[in-house]
Parts: sequence; structure tokens; C-alpha cells
Amino acid sequence: MTDAKPATKIPDPCSFVIFGVTGDLAHRLVIPALYNLAATHLLPEKFCVVGVARGTMSNEELRDDMMKGLKQFATRPVDDAIAQRLLECVTFIEADPKEPASFDKMREDLDKLEARRETTGNRLFYMATPPSAFAPIARQLGRTGMLKENGSWRRLVVEKPFGTDLESAKALNVELLSIVEEKQIYRIDHYLGKETVQNILVLRFANGMFEPFWNRNHIDHVQITVDEKLGVGHRGSFYDATGALRDMVPNHLFQLLSLVAMEPPAKFEAHAVRSEKAEVLGAISIQTEAEALQNSVRGQYLGGKIGDTEIEDYLKSKDVKPDSTIETYAALKLTIDNWRWAGVPFYLRTGKALGIKRTEVAIKFKQAPFAMFRDTAVEKLSQNYLVIGVEPTEGIALQFNTKIPGPSIQIDGVEMKFRYKDYFKAEPSTGYETLIYDCMIGDNILFQRADGVEAGWRAVQPFLDAWKKAGSDGLKNYEAGSEGPVEAEELMTRDGRSWRKLS
Ligand SMILES: NC(=O)c1ccc[n+]([C@@H]2O[C@H](COP(=O)([O-])OP(=O)(O)OC[C@H]3O[C@@H](n4cnc5c(N)ncnc54)[C@H](OP(=O)(O)O)[C@@H]3O)[C@@H](O)[C@H]2O)c1
Repeated sequence: MTDAKPATKIPDPCSFVIFGVTGDLAHRLVIPALYNLAATHLLPEKFCVVGVARGTMSNEELRDDMMKGLKQFATRPVDDAIAQRLLECVTFIEADPKEPASFDKMREDLDKLEARRETTGNRLFYMATPPSAFAPIARQLGRTGMLKENGSWRRLVVEKPFGTDLESAKALNVELLSIVEEKQIYRIDHYLGKETVQNILVLRFANGMFEPFWNRNHIDHVQITVDEKLGVGHRGSFYDATGALRDMVPNHLFQLLSLVAMEPPAKFEAHAVRSEKAEVLGAISIQTEAEALQNSVRGQYLGGKIGDTEIEDYLKSKDVKPDSTIETYAALKLTIDNWRWAGVPFYLRTGKALGIKRTEVAIKFKQAPFAMFRDTAVEKLSQNYLVIGVEPTEGIALQFNTKIPGPSIQIDGVEMKFRYKDYFKAEPSTGYETLIYDCMIGDNILFQRADGVEAGWRAVQPFLDAWKKAGSDGLKNYEAGSEGPVEAEELMTRDGRSWRKLS
């Protein structure tokens, strides 16, 4: 063990059951996150990990497989003693939601295992499977009584994407809520595991200086950018059925938007925070399909070069239909119909195969009156920006105008920067540690509630519908390695604004 014991609550004894244990998410993120929790003494003493898959495997095979994954994906050097202690807790169980009897057997096996491990019946079921399996697995868990809370807690972690549109998200909510209570459901969006994202609340509400001007009187507009350099890679079949809008906007971009735009909650506790987030998502103006077409740009990448990497045309990618009209880039203009944000546009953009990987929220303030500089050499004042960097730079930058040293008045924009890594020593992490830990201690502040998820889908639905009807009409191409389609710039310039440049 390398780290000192933290003064943090240790979760109750429990079982951590992973459906889809053979998959990518389990290997790349969930197991390494459990390892990091073990290394920082944040797992309970009485603990077991149950890996579930539809095929057979021995405990030893699963442990070997996990160790291989850990060696490949761990975010810190793997300490054998810690890894062995974690792997000793691992048991394999075979269960397939298409075979109900396998869940009856799973229930018996789990009861016996828990009696041996003294985990007191507390259970976290993590569905690290394709979304099509969420409801079937939950149904079987419900039918066999494995989710029934009888003096012990039972929780269900649901991965993203939660639905593919408003209707399917509602249907999944109805189904899950017929099996468990809302407080037992943890809808995960791994963006909320990122420190900088969580820090938006602290920046806004733990400082006296920002909130007074965090409104339409002082803010001109907000830009939210989630740009990726990677193309579609080997995820063609998933991506071509999904697209940039579904994949990123109702979840990641709306998480950022809701934290930036929500009202201050009365308390820093789950119900209050989630209510305010759902409230502001519900206040996004619902556009008609015609408005949605006017207030959006969608693009698809052509081949190009990003650094030394050649990227092929999206349409030539593996498992992508050669005539696909799915977007790999989306830019939207939204408005929030409430007192604080009336008249302040929120511009959102996200895409693949772009020149730079960057996630940030940029808040642009209204320009100061120019009058006093009219008779000086100053030609214009730039507008102040507050930039919250999420990836790769984690930090906050404030851009403001300053006098250029010299005898005459000349002004230039400068930047004051705070970077997390300069102030805090944080071990590299997968981003899932906080979320998994929170599930175990029963804190769902960072998880989405049914109403929040549905409000998000409601706001994007007109764009989905309009784009589906438009087909290839209006789908713009952009070169891999560029900043996206030029038309996205026009979405801003027609409002007299511009995107922050990639840097
Ligand atoms: N991978 C990531 O980086 C990532 C990031 C964020 C979110 N997610 C989300 O996490 C979930 C899992 O992603 P993944 O990339 O790990 O997926 P995956 O590798 O395609 O699937 C995970 C596992 O699920 C099991 N599975 C497949 N179909 C099933 C079914 N019908 N019923 C029960 N089990 C089934 C398979 O195991 P067996 O065949 O052995 O049963 C498979 O190994 C998805 O919802 C995804 O959107 C993934």
C-alpha cells in the first residue's frame, strides 16, 4: 500500500457485481478504478467482486484476465500485493438474461458467497453491457428478488447512453422504476467523475465574486466545446447508429450546461442539486424542427491528417454504411427560457477527427463601454472570457484587458491561469473512482435523475427529428484535422460572435 489512509468514509461491506465483465468498459475503466480505490484504502474490508458473463469461465480465468487488463490499463504502477488482495475477492458467475434459470442460480450462488464473505447483503449491480441489455438484466434481477432491499441496500448502476431518444429514455425509466425505486438507480455519466466538472459548482457557489455577474446582465453568451481528435476507429457499428448528437449532447454537454446554468441549490445534497439541474435542463427552449435546422450545423469528416496519423473518410470506416448520413460533428445554438438566462445563447459543439482534443466551457462577458477610450489609440476592447478547461488542460483561465506598457494607452487581452496540476498533487485516475465510491456510500449527487435525463432528450429531440428527415440535405463535410465545418463558424458570425479558436 502506497498512500496514507484518508479521513474519508469507508463504504459498508458489499458485493460489487459487474455484468459484462468480459467487455471493454470493465477492463479499461471499472477494474482499474476498483484497483485505485483499493490502493487508496477506499474499499470496505468485507468486500467481494462478482464478474458476470454469458459464457463460462473459472474464477482463476477471470482473475487472470482482470490482472492482464489491470496491467494494460491501470493509471498507476500496479502493486502486486494490492492487486492480489483485490483479485482474491473475485468470483465468476454465469448468467444470461435470455435464460431466466441462470438468474435463479445466480441468486443462490450470490447468497452463499455473501454469507461466506460476510458482506451483509449490500449489493451494487453495475451494468457494463450494451444498453440493449439494461432492461432485460434489471427485469431478471427484479424477478428473482435480488434488488429487494431487506435491511440491506441494493443499487443498480446504469451506463450511458440512457435511451436513444426521448421516447426510449422514458420507456427505460418506466421499466426500471417498476423494478426499483429512483434512489436505487445510479445513471452514470463519467463526465461527472472529472474534478474540473465537479469544480464548476464550487467555482460558482463557494466564491463570492462570480455569482453576482453570472447572469444575462453581464454574460454575452456561453460556448461549450467537446472536441475529439480520434475518428470512429473500431466503433463503427455503434457510432453509425448513434452519431455525435446522441453520443455527446444529452449527456456530457448537457451535464456541463446544467452545472454552468443551474440556480444555486439550497443545500449541497443530492435531491437539491439534481432538482436544480433538472429544472434548468427543463428550461431549455424547445425548438420547432425548422428552428432546429436553422440553429444547428452537422458535419461528417473526410480523410485527412492529424499529426502523423492518417484518418480515412468516415464513410470508408469499418462497419459504417457507405451512404451513411450520420453526423460526426454537431453544433447547436440553444436558449434557456428563464430569468437568469433570457437572451443569452448557449452554443454547443462536439465532433470527431478534429485538429485538437479539447473540452471546455467558455463564458464570454459583455463588452465594457468604449466611450472613455474614444480619443486614444485603442481601437477596440476585447470581451472578457472565463474558460473552464476540462480536458486536456484542467483548470480555469480568465481573460481580461490590460495596458500595454508604454507612454500611450494601448490595450491587449491577457490571461490569468489556474491549473489543477500546479496546485494539487492528484494521482492519475480513470475518472470512475469517485463515481463508484459514491455508489458504494449511497451518494447520488453526481448521478442523473429520471427527470433530468428526460429533460435533456426533450431538448435535443427536434434536432434528431429534423436531421433524420433532412437526410443528406444540409450535412456538411469537413477535413479530418480541421476545426469542423466552416458553416459552424457561420452559426456564430451571423450573431456577431465567433468560436474560441483551437489552441
Ligand atoms: N467502453 C468504454 O470506454 C465506455 C465508456 C463509457 C460508457 N460505456 C458504456 O458502457 C457499456 C459497456 O461498454 P463496452 O464497451 O464494455 O461494451 P462491450 O464490450 O460491447 O460489451 C460488454 C459486455 O457485455 C456483455 N453483453 C453483450 N451483450 C449482452 C447481452 N445482450 N446481455 C448481457 N450481456 C451482454 C458481453 O459479455 P459476454 O458476451 O461475455 O456476456 C460484453 O463483453 C455500454 O453501455 C457503453 O455505452 C463504455
